[in-house]
Amino acid sequence: MKILVTGGTGYIGSHTVVELQAKGFEVVIVDNLSNSSSDIVEKISEISGIIPKLEIFDLTNKDLVADFFSRNNDIVGIIHFAAYKAVGESVNKPLLYYRNNIESLINVMEGMQTNGIENIVFSSSCTVYGQPDVLPVNEQAPIKIAESPYGNTKQISEEIIQDTVKSSNINAIALRYFNPIGAHETALIGELPLGVPNNLMPFITQTAIGIRKCLSVFGDDYPTPDGTAIRDYIHVVDLAKAHVIAIDRMISKNMKDDLEIFNLGTGNGYSVLEVINSFERVSGLKLNYQIVGRREGDIIQVWADPTYSNEELGWKAEMGIDEMTNSAWNWEQFLSKKK
Ligand code: UD1
Repeated sequence: MKILVTGGTGYIGSHTVVELQAKGFEVVIVDNLSNSSSDIVEKISEISGIIPKLEIFDLTNKDLVADFFSRNNDIVGIIHFAAYKAVGESVNKPLLYYRNNIESLINVMEGMQTNGIENIVFSSSCTVYGQPDVLPVNEQAPIKIAESPYGNTKQISEEIIQDTVKSSNINAIALRYFNPIGAHETALIGELPLGVPNNLMPFITQTAIGIRKCLSVFGDDYPTPDGTAIRDYIHVVDLAKAHVIAIDRMISKNMKDDLEIFNLGTGNGYSVLEVINSFERVSGLKLNYQIVGRREGDIIQVWADPTYSNEELGWKAEMGIDEMTNSAWNWEQFLSKKK
């Protein structure tokens, strides 16, 4: 069964391709390589033994998308990762984010309608909840006004999907990710941030390996036990596995609604200092960090209530914080040996 994975050479996409292949799915990747590289397909095949097909083009190009679907109308499902994801950049370049993230989704869904493809899994984010009033946050929590254009593209995309499933044969599952970190156990694929990382985990590992001098911890005056902000970090392989279950659920017609929404988190919140402690524990290193002011736009704390995903999908995040930080560290060390 053929699955289209858009953004399949990216961080979460590449791990998902590996898990799909392990379950016997045939994968075709579409990616414009704006934040990844084509040699990821070889790394994927080193893990799985199968080279996924890769087509390099931009999903905002309607004609190319239509042409792709006309050649691939045997696709049974789509996992749509392709999107820009840097919160700060989206504040400075909102139109870039709206055009890229929204137009590509519309083109993909039009292609589905034209070619009778019924199933799409969409990469959403816990950012849609903003700072939730109740923790842990479940899927019924209200959507808050987006804190960034990036976050808004996720909200708008969910709305576009909701409207489209009502008026067509398309079924959708939106997966709301908490904070994905870590890398594949083979250290052949992982996160490859361009330039200075925005996210915590790659900044920690790059500081430890000597690429960055010092990690800035953004704020220690939050109303949390140690004063630093709390997130629900989830291992990228656990996250990837949920996508395979979701696509399988759609193909097997086990959905309870035309659009289903699931939180993908562990249910455990860790503070920035707890993540640093875990990293120091597994690596045996002392991390150079300093406390600085809060980062604009950051929320205080969020962690998932994963009960609905656990019960409905029969999925549960398995890896703990030390396994996550350890795999991120292995990956950074592997990257440094390559250079
Ligand atoms: C954000 C988005 C999330 C998005 C993700 C992808 C929100 C609420 N969340 O996650 O939707 O998918 O980016 O980029 O908008 N930190 C430091 N020092 C650093 C970097 C981070 O202390 O150098 C802290 C942050 O203040 C935060 C935590 O580490 O408390 C995690 O930050 P980060 O990894 O950037 O993820 P989020 O901001 O939670």
